[in-house]
Amino acid sequence: MRVGIVGTGFVGAAAAYAMTLRGSAAELVLTDVNADKARAEARDIQDATPFSHPLRVSAGDYASLDGCRVVVLTAGVNQKPGETRLQLLERNARIFEEVVPQVVQAAPEAVLLVATNPVDVLTTLVERIARLPEGRVIGSGTALDTARMRALIAEKVGVDPGHVHGYVLGEHGDSEVLAWRSVDIAGLEVARFCEMRGLSWGEVERAEIDTRVRRAAYEIIAGKGATYYGIGTALARITESIVRDQRAVLTVSSSLRPGGTRGEVAYSLPRLVGGAGILATLETPLDPREQQALAASEAVIAEAAAGLK
Ligand code: LAC
Repeated sequence: MRVGIVGTGFVGAAAAYAMTLRGSAAELVLTDVNADKARAEARDIQDATPFSHPLRVSAGDYASLDGCRVVVLTAGVNQKPGETRLQLLERNARIFEEVVPQVVQAAPEAVLLVATNPVDVLTTLVERIARLPEGRVIGSGTALDTARMRALIAEKVGVDPGHVHGYVLGEHGDSEVLAWRSVDIAGLEVARFCEMRGLSWGEVERAEIDTRVRRAAYEIIAGKGATYYGIGTALARITESIVRDQRAVLTVSSSLRPGGTRGEVAYSLPRLVGGAGILATLETPLDPREQQALAASEAVIAEAAAGLK
């Protein structure tokens, strides 16, 4: 399976490296406006393959994306300290308006996986530009936020993160919604699990985790200028579910809604991700407050997307 990555900046290179270590694909094709950078990243990552998985890593122009099953879009600028993801829209939308038609022409059968922020608005833009069959445009959305939330819950209650379920929904950004109503630990409500384990659990613990998930990127960016290992590995995980048709349930961004309807803008809901991209969008039990927060999050994205072509 061939996977293309457009943009070999922090996120694109980290995604390629994560895919190499995980063996996400048989071949990676890297492309960037800076061809020297793409070639150097390909050579450097190729040097990791003798220690990881025997995959081929090359660099090329858009034409080299031909035959890719997935093309990951990471081109664009990233947040500077204190900058919100939405503030990147104008610059990155311009880049996408130029890049996306060339990608679709080179790889008309590929699933497009959008990573550049603001990812929900840009996913909406790619859906409109690419006009691909349903489910073939996916935004990484809150896949990373859901992983952050699950990891923090697992740390708090002393359990393997693999046994924590639950979702972050809506915007990958300041208005995202930690859907506590959807959270369970080994099939138990968190409060019941904690009661059995003699642990305290309530609004204080939920508020602490909410803040740490919502502020994670800002704090990392303040310290090192960008985030890339978390999102890079999340992109590898989403890519694997596509190339292996795994049908993992991942909170990824799309304008698709439960029941096959379509909304105005893309945001994250739990979706079945397989070979054809998004195979289904799942309904999530939400309490009234969470439903209101999700509607508010959609409105934030819609306002930002209002300026799109
Ligand atoms: C983050 C970037 C990917 O949340 O938005 O780390």
